[in-house]
Amino acid sequence: MLLGVNIDHVATLRNARGDKDPNVSAAAIICEMAGADGITTHLREDRRHIKDSDVYELKKILKTRLNLEMAVTEEMQKIALELLPENCCLVPEKRAELTTEGGLDVCAQIEKITKFVQPLNKAGIIVSLFIDPDLKQIDAAKKTGAAFIELHTGSFSEAFGTVDEQVEFDKLKNAARYAQSIGLKVNAGHGLTYENVHRMKEIPELVELNIGHNIVAKALFVGLENAVRQMKDLIK
Ligand code: PXP
Repeated sequence: MLLGVNIDHVATLRNARGDKDPNVSAAAIICEMAGADGITTHLREDRRHIKDSDVYELKKILKTRLNLEMAVTEEMQKIALELLPENCCLVPEKRAELTTEGGLDVCAQIEKITKFVQPLNKAGIIVSLFIDPDLKQIDAAKKTGAAFIELHTGSFSEAFGTVDEQVEFDKLKNAARYAQSIGLKVNAGHGLTYENVHRMKEIPELVELNIGHNIVAKALFVGLENAVRQMKDLIK
């Protein structure tokens, strides 16, 4: 299984005091050296962590892949078509949320998302839709022409260690199997931790996990390179 490291919260820390330290590009290089298969960043509408200059710089220096998470807006489509990241993950976005809550409702906006995906596909960007493990959303995702879905693991992560863990895990497992059977490739992410990530190895369809907050949090204690290496070892 591949590991995409989300470095948004390196930028969160930087933005707390001006715009210098810690350096986002340096963090990305360390993640790559430690075995990250790609670097993920979410350019939010309010630019609360990653900024435009970060993604342009990352695109220049990365040796792996840049996965740009973004909302389905005209502004973001324009940036993606200019920047040409290797991957784009379309996510829902609400201004007041602390982090991405829930998956994209593809069923409710299938025409809009299909039109949005087309030029990205044409430009050679591999598009993924961040959705809940719900078979109707998977069918809708397939119709949009996106090559990948990313399954939202937030409910599983919250349920981990409780009586609901297996129910939430089974939703992910069934969703991944179904998505692959209809020709979609499957990633997963959100809320995954060093404690719960081992369960993702029970889902053979998963191509890549995108993990951010828990890696950056661990990096404060063990360093970023060790934090990435430890996560890589867990998902091998
Ligand atoms: N995948 C997607 C689509 C996300 O929006 C996020 C959070 O930005 C992540 C993965 C990573 O989540 P976390 O920071 O909880 O590991």
